Amino acid sequence: MIEIAIDGTAASGKGTLGKKLSNKYSFPYLDTGLLYRKVALELIKENKVYTTELEQTSCDFAKILNFKELKNTNLRTEDVAKLASKIATFPDLRKILNNKQKEFNNSSKKKFGGCILDGRDIGTTILPNADFKFFITASLEVRAKRRLLEKNISFLHENDEKCMLQSLINNMRERDNLDGMRKISPLVPAKDAHIIDTSSINAQELLLIVTNIIEGKK
Ligand code: C5P
Repeated sequence: MIEIAIDGTAASGKGTLGKKLSNKYSFPYLDTGLLYRKVALELIKENKVYTTELEQTSCDFAKILNFKELKNTNLRTEDVAKLASKIATFPDLRKILNNKQKEFNNSSKKKFGGCILDGRDIGTTILPNADFKFFITASLEVRAKRRLLEKNISFLHENDEKCMLQSLINNMRERDNLDGMRKISPLVPAKDAHIIDTSSINAQELLLIVTNIIEGKK
């Protein structure tokens, strides 16, 4: 049974890698950031963001979270990402979501012989004994440009594009800092993780590097 843990910064290419590995090896893949985003989206939808019970309400939403509801495109917005990063500092919320991730891992391994999880604390907290651990990152500018391209906005005036890129850089920097400095499960590479910088390589090249490691080639 194989466990593959992928951690890293936003827009580093870890999600694309997870999907490609899942296709290649036929192991289920979970983007664990979506769990935090789903709770954040519910808080926004139900107008619960500016309440004193934010942590308790987050936990309530997390308890009833259904994995089938993780395909909503609204989960991908910058507002949702920001709030996800904020609530991800709540210890009780992390406990609930950690259990869900471990359940997913156990049932996937039983049914399919393996599992791939991506997030911020997979190699350090969720799957500390994973067979393969990867920590994927890239420069802030490259990652922000990738996010901008994903937004697929055509006919944007040059100045507007610059503004949007700057705003993405600012948001990502803020999130990197919050995720990296929090006390509980901060974003740090596991000691035994392969650290890969994707600033100058594409998704296919990353897949090749990773599969060579998994299959024991140089
Ligand atoms: O990966 P994604 O950008 O979708 O994650 C959104 C936020 O969820 C991250 O900024 C991080 O704060 C939180 N997260 C986390 N632990 C994970 C996955 C995501 O704290 N395993």
